[in-house]
Amino acid sequence: MTQEITFSGDPSRNESVFGREVKACRLEGTAAIVTGASRGIGLAIAERLVAEGARVCITARKIGPLEDAAAGFPEGTVITVAGNSDDPDHRREVLDTVARKFDRLDILVNNAGINPVYGPLMDLDLEAARKIINVNVLASLAWVQDVYRHEGLGFASRFGSVINISSVTGQTPSPGIGMYGISKAAIGHLTRTLAVELGPRIRVNAVAPAVVKTRFARALYEGKEAEVSSKYPLGRLGKPDDIASLVAFLASSDASWITGQVINLDGGLLSAGGSA
Ligand SMILES: NC(=O)c1ccc[n+]([C@@H]2O[C@H](COP(=O)([O-])OP(=O)(O)OC[C@H]3O[C@@H](n4cnc5c(N)ncnc54)[C@H](OP(=O)(O)O)[C@@H]3O)[C@@H](O)[C@H]2O)c1
Repeated sequence: MTQEITFSGDPSRNESVFGREVKACRLEGTAAIVTGASRGIGLAIAERLVAEGARVCITARKIGPLEDAAAGFPEGTVITVAGNSDDPDHRREVLDTVARKFDRLDILVNNAGINPVYGPLMDLDLEAARKIINVNVLASLAWVQDVYRHEGLGFASRFGSVINISSVTGQTPSPGIGMYGISKAAIGHLTRTLAVELGPRIRVNAVAPAVVKTRFARALYEGKEAEVSSKYPLGRLGKPDDIASLVAFLASSDASWITGQVINLDGGLLSAGGSA
């Protein structure tokens, strides 16, 4: 588990301050899907959404680690469906299960992402490039399409929020991971385009982290963390919880006038002229 959380789930703790309601549980009564959530950023997001009152469906390809992750949640707050996020049958199974168990869907977090290759674009195997685009970009769009069209879920008929996980590599080139950055740049424009198409009912935003300490990014910092961190004005690399707190905000009604935004979450790295 990535953090210690107090699970309250008690909306009666809401308070009125200066005549405004301050919600103890901003996401009380909502339901969410977080893809790629057996560890790392996705798991931290799922934990945070549950801590704020949501019920969550988490996915990942490997069933064992997914079940292990789910075991850390309070009873009744999480369901799991294993599968590959770019597989239409998997998406169908997830949505049917969410409809059956939660009977609603308010929040979709497109977190699953891959980067299977390292090296210059001139050496890139185009099959690998297609795989990156399929999982990182097309599957993110397909999740939104499938949710929107699903006959048993009310995403298209009630207010909803989509949050895509992009990356600072989509803002400025990072040597060796060019195609990954291209896919994350596409996520940014997908986010803006969907926001225009799906408003006013559905808000679509993205979060673009710099290096966050997870298994995925290990090669970027292991054995050189002090040196890498020194390029960040805030003096440290990201933690999964840094991403989770922004995602929870974007999912909540506190962000009800925010759509089509790609928010950099980078400890100041880009402002300092750095890249991941
Ligand atoms: N860590 C960073 O520095 C960083 C920075 C910017 C953006 N991001 C983005 O943040 C997201 C999460 O990254 P992370 O660092 O948390 O990675 P991570 O620790 O490696 O976790 C990835 C999660 O996604 C699952 N997954 C991978 N491929 C999948 C697929 N095709 N379908 C379904 N699930 C899949 C993995 O489980 P299985 O292996 O069992 O499928 C795992 O649960 C990614 O989109 C990544 O691009 C990360």
